[in-house]
Amino acid sequence: MDRIAVVTGASNGIGAEVAEELARRSWRVAVVGRNPERTKAVAGKIGGTPFICDFDRLDEVRGLAQELSTRFDHIDVLVNNAGGIVAKRSFSVDGHELTLQRNVLAGAVLTEELIPHLIAARGRVIHTSSMVSRLGRIDLDDLGFTTRRYGAGWWPYAAAKLGVILYARSLAQRTGLESYPVHPGYVRSGFGAESRSGRMILALSGWMQISAEAGAAPLVHLVDTPELGVANGTYFDGLTPDGPTHPGAADVDLIRAYWRKIASFVDLSVDQPHAP
Ligand SMILES: NC(=O)c1ccc[n+]([C@@H]2O[C@H](COP(=O)([O-])OP(=O)(O)OC[C@H]3O[C@@H](n4cnc5c(N)ncnc54)[C@H](OP(=O)(O)O)[C@@H]3O)[C@@H](O)[C@H]2O)c1
Repeated sequence: MDRIAVVTGASNGIGAEVAEELARRSWRVAVVGRNPERTKAVAGKIGGTPFICDFDRLDEVRGLAQELSTRFDHIDVLVNNAGGIVAKRSFSVDGHELTLQRNVLAGAVLTEELIPHLIAARGRVIHTSSMVSRLGRIDLDDLGFTTRRYGAGWWPYAAAKLGVILYARSLAQRTGLESYPVHPGYVRSGFGAESRSGRMILALSGWMQISAEAGAAPLVHLVDTPELGVANGTYFDGLTPDGPTHPGAADVDLIRAYWRKIASFVDLSVDQPHAP
Protein backbone atom coordinates (compact mmCIF):
# COMPACT_ATOMS: atom_id res chain seq x y z
CA MET A 1 0.00 0.00 0.00
CA ASP A 2 1.27 3.51 -0.88
CA ARG A 3 2.46 5.62 2.01
CA ILE A 4 0.67 8.95 1.62
CA ALA A 5 1.83 12.24 3.15
CA VAL A 6 -0.01 15.54 2.96
CA VAL A 7 2.40 18.45 3.43
CA THR A 8 1.03 21.99 3.82
CA GLY A 9 3.21 25.01 3.17
CA ALA A 10 4.98 22.78 0.65
CA SER A 11 5.33 25.44 -2.04
CA ASN A 12 8.38 27.01 -0.41
CA GLY A 13 11.04 26.81 2.30
CA ILE A 14 10.92 23.99 4.84
CA GLY A 15 7.75 22.35 3.49
CA ALA A 16 9.11 22.15 -0.07
CA GLU A 17 12.21 20.38 1.26
CA VAL A 18 10.09 17.99 3.34
CA ALA A 19 7.99 17.15 0.29
CA GLU A 20 11.08 16.58 -1.84
CA GLU A 21 12.83 14.32 0.67
CA LEU A 22 9.69 12.26 1.32
CA ALA A 23 9.21 11.73 -2.42
CA ARG A 24 12.86 10.62 -2.60
CA ARG A 25 11.99 8.07 0.09
CA SER A 26 9.10 6.75 -2.04
CA TRP A 27 6.26 8.51 -0.23
CA ARG A 28 3.32 9.66 -2.32
CA VAL A 29 3.11 13.37 -1.51
CA ALA A 30 0.18 15.78 -1.66
CA VAL A 31 1.89 19.15 -2.13
CA VAL A 32 -0.31 21.83 -0.57
CA GLY A 33 0.50 25.49 -1.21
CA ARG A 34 -1.13 28.87 -1.67
CA ASN A 35 0.81 30.15 -4.66
CA PRO A 36 -0.31 28.07 -7.68
CA GLU A 37 2.92 28.40 -9.71
CA ARG A 38 5.23 27.52 -6.82
CA THR A 39 3.00 24.67 -5.67
CA LYS A 40 2.79 23.13 -9.14
CA ALA A 41 6.54 23.56 -9.64
CA VAL A 42 7.33 21.61 -6.44
CA ALA A 43 4.77 18.92 -7.25
CA GLY A 44 6.10 18.63 -10.81
CA LYS A 45 9.69 18.34 -9.60
CA ILE A 46 8.98 15.51 -7.16
CA GLY A 47 6.14 13.69 -8.95
CA GLY A 48 3.60 14.71 -6.30
CA THR A 49 0.06 16.04 -6.62
CA PRO A 50 -0.50 19.80 -6.22
CA PHE A 51 -3.36 21.16 -4.12
CA ILE A 52 -3.92 24.92 -4.02
CA CYS A 53 -5.45 26.41 -0.88
CA ASP A 54 -5.39 29.79 0.85
CA PHE A 55 -5.50 29.20 4.60
CA ASP A 56 -6.79 32.75 5.03
CA ARG A 57 -10.14 31.37 3.84
CA LEU A 58 -11.69 28.53 5.83
CA ASP A 59 -14.08 27.66 2.98
CA GLU A 60 -10.99 26.83 0.90
CA VAL A 61 -9.54 24.76 3.76
CA ARG A 62 -12.76 22.74 4.01
CA GLY A 63 -12.71 22.35 0.22
CA LEU A 64 -9.13 21.10 0.43
CA ALA A 65 -10.11 18.52 3.06
CA GLN A 66 -12.91 17.35 0.77
CA GLU A 67 -10.57 17.08 -2.22
CA LEU A 68 -7.98 15.12 -0.22
CA SER A 69 -10.65 12.80 1.22
CA THR A 70 -11.93 12.05 -2.27
CA ARG A 71 -8.48 11.55 -3.77
CA PHE A 72 -7.03 9.28 -1.05
CA ASP A 73 -8.65 6.42 0.89
CA HIS A 74 -6.17 6.85 3.75
CA ILE A 75 -3.57 9.38 4.85
CA ASP A 76 -0.51 8.12 6.71
CA VAL A 77 0.90 11.49 7.73
CA LEU A 78 -0.37 15.04 7.71
CA VAL A 79 2.33 17.71 8.09
CA ASN A 80 0.71 20.93 9.28
CA ASN A 81 3.52 23.25 8.25
CA ALA A 82 1.94 26.28 6.52
CA GLY A 83 2.22 29.46 8.52
CA GLY A 84 4.25 32.51 9.28
CA ILE A 85 4.17 35.96 10.79
CA VAL A 86 1.69 38.70 9.83
CA ALA A 87 3.25 42.14 10.19
CA LYS A 88 0.08 44.25 10.49
CA ARG A 89 -2.95 43.51 12.62
CA SER A 90 -5.44 42.06 10.16
CA PHE A 91 -8.42 39.75 10.05
CA SER A 92 -9.54 37.03 7.67
CA VAL A 93 -12.82 36.94 5.76
CA ASP A 94 -13.87 34.48 8.46
CA GLY A 95 -13.34 37.20 11.08
CA HIS A 96 -10.25 35.75 12.79
CA GLU A 97 -6.91 37.43 13.43
CA LEU A 98 -4.76 36.30 10.52
CA THR A 99 -1.78 34.90 12.45
CA LEU A 100 -4.11 32.70 14.50
CA GLN A 101 -5.98 31.55 11.41
CA ARG A 102 -2.89 30.78 9.29
CA ASN A 103 -0.92 29.02 11.98
CA VAL A 104 -3.59 27.34 14.10
CA LEU A 105 -7.22 27.48 12.98
CA ALA A 106 -6.74 26.44 9.35
CA GLY A 107 -4.52 23.50 10.30
CA ALA A 108 -6.99 22.45 12.98
CA VAL A 109 -9.91 22.52 10.53
CA LEU A 110 -7.92 20.50 7.98
CA THR A 111 -6.80 17.97 10.59
CA GLU A 112 -10.21 17.46 12.16
CA GLU A 113 -11.81 16.96 8.73
CA LEU A 114 -9.15 14.36 7.85
CA ILE A 115 -9.34 12.39 11.13
CA PRO A 116 -11.27 9.44 9.61
CA HIS A 117 -8.62 9.10 6.88
CA LEU A 118 -5.81 9.37 9.43
CA ILE A 119 -7.42 6.83 11.75
CA ALA A 120 -7.85 4.46 8.77
CA ALA A 121 -4.05 4.49 8.39
CA ARG A 122 -3.21 4.65 12.12
CA GLY A 123 -1.70 7.91 10.97
CA ARG A 124 0.42 10.63 12.47
CA VAL A 125 0.23 14.43 12.46
CA ILE A 126 3.29 16.69 12.58
CA HIS A 127 2.85 20.36 13.46
CA THR A 128 5.47 23.03 12.75
CA SER A 129 5.71 25.13 15.89
CA SER A 130 8.62 27.37 16.87
CA MET A 131 10.91 27.98 19.81
CA VAL A 132 9.35 31.47 19.83
CA SER A 133 6.34 29.71 21.42
CA ARG A 134 8.20 30.00 24.72
CA LEU A 135 7.37 33.72 24.65
CA GLY A 136 3.71 33.09 23.85
CA ARG A 137 0.98 34.42 26.07
CA ILE A 138 -2.41 32.80 25.79
CA ASP A 139 -5.43 34.87 26.76
CA LEU A 140 -8.46 32.73 26.01
CA ASP A 141 -10.63 35.86 25.95
CA ASP A 142 -8.38 37.55 23.39
CA LEU A 143 -6.73 34.95 21.17
CA GLY A 144 -7.09 37.43 18.31
CA PHE A 145 -5.02 40.15 20.02
CA THR A 146 -7.76 42.74 19.66
CA THR A 147 -6.81 44.44 22.93
CA ARG A 148 -3.21 43.36 23.39
CA ARG A 149 0.03 44.72 21.90
CA TYR A 150 0.61 43.39 18.40
CA GLY A 151 4.38 43.98 18.36
CA ALA A 152 4.68 43.95 14.53
CA GLY A 153 3.14 40.48 14.60
CA TRP A 154 5.64 38.85 16.97
CA TRP A 155 3.29 38.57 19.99
CA PRO A 156 0.45 36.90 18.06
CA TYR A 157 3.01 34.71 16.29
CA ALA A 158 4.51 33.51 19.59
CA ALA A 159 1.03 32.86 21.01
CA ALA A 160 -0.06 31.03 17.84
CA LYS A 161 3.01 28.78 17.89
CA LEU A 162 2.26 27.96 21.56
CA GLY A 163 -1.29 27.30 20.36
CA VAL A 164 0.11 24.86 17.80
CA ILE A 165 1.63 22.82 20.66
CA LEU A 166 -1.58 22.98 22.69
CA TYR A 167 -3.61 21.86 19.67
CA ALA A 168 -1.14 19.06 18.83
CA ARG A 169 -1.41 17.74 22.38
CA SER A 170 -5.17 18.06 22.44
CA LEU A 171 -5.34 16.03 19.22
CA ALA A 172 -3.18 13.30 20.78
CA GLN A 173 -5.33 13.20 23.91
CA ARG A 174 -8.70 13.27 22.15
CA THR A 175 -8.06 10.90 19.27
CA GLY A 176 -5.05 8.75 20.18
CA LEU A 177 -3.50 9.68 16.82
CA GLU A 178 0.22 10.25 17.06
CA SER A 179 0.71 14.00 17.10
CA TYR A 180 4.03 15.82 17.47
CA PRO A 181 4.82 19.54 17.46
CA VAL A 182 8.33 20.47 16.30
CA HIS A 183 10.66 23.48 16.11
CA PRO A 184 12.56 23.14 12.82
CA GLY A 185 15.44 25.46 13.78
CA TYR A 186 16.21 28.99 12.64
CA VAL A 187 15.87 28.44 8.93
CA ARG A 188 16.72 30.41 5.78
CA SER A 189 13.39 30.47 3.92
CA GLY A 190 10.69 32.92 2.91
CA PHE A 191 9.82 33.40 6.61
CA GLY A 192 9.62 37.03 7.73
CA ALA A 193 10.22 38.45 4.25
CA GLU A 194 6.88 40.30 4.28
CA SER A 195 7.64 42.07 7.54
CA ARG A 196 9.99 45.03 8.15
CA SER A 197 10.98 43.75 11.59
CA GLY A 198 11.54 40.28 10.09
CA ARG A 199 13.89 41.71 7.47
CA MET A 200 15.75 43.67 10.15
CA ILE A 201 16.20 40.58 12.33
CA LEU A 202 17.38 38.65 9.28
CA ALA A 203 19.91 41.32 8.42
CA LEU A 204 21.40 41.05 11.92
CA SER A 205 21.18 37.32 12.51
CA GLY A 206 20.95 35.71 9.08
CA TRP A 207 24.38 34.19 9.59
CA MET A 208 22.89 31.93 12.28
CA GLN A 209 20.32 30.40 9.97
CA ILE A 210 20.44 26.82 8.78
CA SER A 211 19.39 25.74 5.28
CA ALA A 212 15.79 24.83 4.49
CA GLU A 213 17.02 21.29 3.88
CA ALA A 214 18.46 21.12 7.40
CA GLY A 215 15.23 22.66 8.77
CA ALA A 216 13.24 19.96 7.01
CA ALA A 217 15.29 17.13 8.56
CA PRO A 218 13.44 16.98 11.92
CA LEU A 219 10.07 16.94 10.14
CA VAL A 220 11.20 14.19 7.78
CA HIS A 221 12.48 12.23 10.80
CA LEU A 222 9.08 12.54 12.48
CA VAL A 223 7.25 11.47 9.33
CA ASP A 224 9.48 8.62 8.31
CA THR A 225 10.51 6.95 11.60
CA PRO A 226 8.05 4.14 12.31
CA GLU A 227 8.64 3.96 16.08
CA LEU A 228 9.70 7.24 17.66
CA GLY A 229 9.89 5.76 21.16
CA VAL A 230 8.51 8.87 22.89
CA ALA A 231 5.21 9.75 24.54
CA ASN A 232 2.47 10.91 22.21
CA GLY A 233 2.41 14.73 22.01
CA THR A 234 6.14 15.09 22.70
CA TYR A 235 7.57 18.42 21.49
CA PHE A 236 10.72 18.14 19.40
CA ASP A 237 13.36 20.87 19.34
CA GLY A 238 14.87 19.90 16.02
CA LEU A 239 15.70 16.22 16.36
CA THR A 240 15.72 16.37 20.16
CA PRO A 241 12.60 15.17 21.97
CA ASP A 242 11.32 16.99 25.06
CA GLY A 243 12.91 20.29 24.12
CA PRO A 244 12.25 23.26 26.42
CA THR A 245 8.70 24.58 26.13
CA HIS A 246 6.48 27.19 27.69
CA PRO A 247 5.16 25.86 31.06
CA GLY A 248 1.60 26.27 29.75
CA ALA A 249 2.26 23.68 27.05
CA ALA A 250 1.99 20.91 29.66
CA ASP A 251 -1.09 22.32 31.40
CA VAL A 252 -3.88 19.79 30.70
CA ASP A 253 -6.60 22.28 31.63
CA LEU A 254 -5.17 24.86 29.24
CA ILE A 255 -4.83 22.24 26.49
CA ARG A 256 -8.51 21.33 26.89
CA ALA A 257 -9.69 24.94 27.20
CA TYR A 258 -7.66 26.07 24.17
CA TRP A 259 -9.15 23.29 22.05
CA ARG A 260 -12.68 24.16 23.16
CA LYS A 261 -12.09 27.81 22.33
CA ILE A 262 -10.67 27.28 18.85
CA ALA A 263 -13.27 24.60 18.09
CA SER A 264 -15.98 27.13 18.90
CA PHE A 265 -14.31 29.69 16.58
CA VAL A 266 -14.46 27.37 13.58
CA ASP A 267 -17.61 25.35 14.35
CA LEU A 268 -15.86 22.06 15.05
CA SER A 269 -17.33 19.39 17.29
CA VAL A 270 -15.29 19.19 20.51
CA ASP A 271 -15.65 15.40 20.71
CA GLN A 272 -13.90 13.31 18.08
CA PRO A 273 -13.67 9.57 17.41
CA HIS A 274 -10.78 7.81 19.10
CA ALA A 275 -8.32 5.68 17.14
CA PRO A 276 -8.74 1.95 17.92
N1 LIG B 1 12.08 29.85 9.07
C1 LIG B 1 12.20 29.71 10.39
O1 LIG B 1 13.22 30.08 11.00
C2 LIG B 1 11.09 29.08 11.17
C3 LIG B 1 11.31 28.79 12.52
C4 LIG B 1 10.29 28.18 13.26
C5 LIG B 1 9.10 27.86 12.64
N2 LIG B 1 8.90 28.19 11.33
C6 LIG B 1 7.61 27.80 10.72
O2 LIG B 1 7.90 26.92 9.64
C7 LIG B 1 6.78 26.90 8.75
C8 LIG B 1 7.28 27.00 7.32
O3 LIG B 1 7.85 28.30 7.14
P1 LIG B 1 9.15 28.56 6.26
O4 LIG B 1 10.20 28.99 7.19
O5 LIG B 1 9.41 27.44 5.34
O6 LIG B 1 8.67 29.87 5.48
P2 LIG B 1 8.24 30.12 3.96
O7 LIG B 1 9.36 29.79 3.05
O8 LIG B 1 7.68 31.49 3.96
O9 LIG B 1 7.09 29.06 3.70
C9 LIG B 1 5.80 29.25 4.25
C10 LIG B 1 4.86 28.27 3.59
O10 LIG B 1 3.55 28.46 4.16
C11 LIG B 1 2.63 28.76 3.14
N3 LIG B 1 1.63 29.73 3.57
C12 LIG B 1 1.83 30.90 4.22
N4 LIG B 1 0.66 31.53 4.38
C13 LIG B 1 -0.30 30.74 3.82
C14 LIG B 1 -1.69 30.84 3.63
N5 LIG B 1 -2.37 31.93 4.03
N6 LIG B 1 -2.34 29.83 3.01
C15 LIG B 1 -1.68 28.74 2.58
N7 LIG B 1 -0.35 28.58 2.71
C16 LIG B 1 0.32 29.58 3.30
C17 LIG B 1 3.45 29.37 2.00
O11 LIG B 1 2.71 29.22 0.80
P3 LIG B 1 3.00 30.14 -0.52
O12 LIG B 1 4.49 30.24 -0.65
O13 LIG B 1 2.39 29.30 -1.61
O14 LIG B 1 2.33 31.44 -0.30
C18 LIG B 1 4.72 28.53 2.09
O15 LIG B 1 4.55 27.31 1.42
C19 LIG B 1 5.88 28.04 9.20
O16 LIG B 1 4.82 27.51 9.96
C20 LIG B 1 6.79 28.89 10.09
O17 LIG B 1 6.06 29.63 11.03
C21 LIG B 1 9.87 28.76 10.57
